[in-house]
Amino acid sequence: MIPQIPHDLTQRAIVQDLAHCWHPFTPQSLWGREAEILMIQSGSGVWLTDSLGRRYIDGNSSIWVNIHGHCHPHIIQAIQKQAATICHSSYLGFGHALASELAEKLTQLFPDGKLTRVFFSDDGSTAIETALKMAFQSCSQTPGREQRRHFIAFSNCYHGDTMGAASLGGVNTFFSRFNGFGIEVTHVREMDELLSLSSDFTNTVAGIVIEPIIQGVNRMTPWRRGLLRELREYCTQRGIFLICDEVMTGFGRTGKMFACMHEDVTPDFLCCAKGLTSGYTPMAACLTTEDVYKTFLGAYSENKSFYYGHSFTAHPIGCAAALV
Ligand SMILES: Cc1ncc(COP(=O)(O)O)c(C=O)c1O
Repeated sequence: MIPQIPHDLTQRAIVQDLAHCWHPFTPQSLWGREAEILMIQSGSGVWLTDSLGRRYIDGNSSIWVNIHGHCHPHIIQAIQKQAATICHSSYLGFGHALASELAEKLTQLFPDGKLTRVFFSDDGSTAIETALKMAFQSCSQTPGREQRRHFIAFSNCYHGDTMGAASLGGVNTFFSRFNGFGIEVTHVREMDELLSLSSDFTNTVAGIVIEPIIQGVNRMTPWRRGLLRELREYCTQRGIFLICDEVMTGFGRTGKMFACMHEDVTPDFLCCAKGLTSGYTPMAACLTTEDVYKTFLGAYSENKSFYYGHSFTAHPIGCAAALV
C-alpha cells in the first residue's frame, strides 16, 4: 500500500507547479484556475491514484502508452536488474546485448522478414524524424532518386511535435503557425487525391506517411478497409517509400501486433514507440528494409553515414523494459 501524500504537501506541489511548470498542449493561463489540478501519485494495473487517495481508471492508458498496466512486477524487476548493472552507455561507437536482442526480436515480429534493420530513438516524434531523415538521405544518395525531397501526409494526421514530424501534421490548430519551417509536405485526404497527382510531382516524393488503419488525434477516425493496401501498391508503383506511423497502434492496440498487419502490408519504414516499453521508459524504434540500409553503405570517403542520433539511443533500461 503506497501511503497518501498529506494534503499540505499536495498543496505545496500544486503551488510549485503553478509557479514553475509548463504543461504540453495546455492553455497555461487557465491551468488550475478553472478546474482542480490532479496530482497523480501512483498506479497499479489499470488504476491511477491521486495524491489525495482518489482512484481513477486510466481510460486512455496514459496517452495510449501503457499496454501492460501500471507497476507490472516483471517490468519493474527487469528495470531494477538493469539499473543495478548499468543505466546508460552511448550507442554511438558501442553496442550492448539488450539492444542487439531487442532489435532481433522486433524484426522477428514481421513474418515476411522484410524489415531487417532497427534504429532506436527516444519517443514517437524522434522515430518519425528518423524515418523522414532516412528516407530523404537514402534518396539523396541513390542515383536517379536525388530529386525526391518532398513528403505526403494525410489531412488531420498527427505524427509528433519535433520540427520534421510537426511539418507532417494535418491539424491546423497545432501546426499551421509553424508553416514554412521543417520539410516540404503536401496533404491529401484520400487515394483519389493521390491518384490525381501528376507523375512530375510524384517523382519528387521521397515518402508518404500514414497512421495505418486508424488516425488517433482529437478523435479516433478509422480508415476505410483496403486503403492501406492500395497505398502500398501506389507507393511501390511510383518508387515512393511508405512510412507507417505505428506509434499509437503498435504492439496489439488494434488487435494485431501492428495495425498494418490487418491488410498484410509491410511498409518501408515502421515507427513505433509508446507501447514498446509500455511507457515505463521513453524508447522508440524505426524499422526499415535491407534495401534502404544498403543505400547508406559505402567507402568512408563517400560520406554516406546516417548522421542522426540521440544521447539516449538504445537506452539499456528501455531495452530491458521492452524485452520483458
Ligand atoms: C500516431 C502518433 N505519432 C507520433 C506521436 C508522437 O509521439 P511522442 O509523443 O512520443 O513524441 C504520437 C503521440 O501521441 C502519435 O499518436
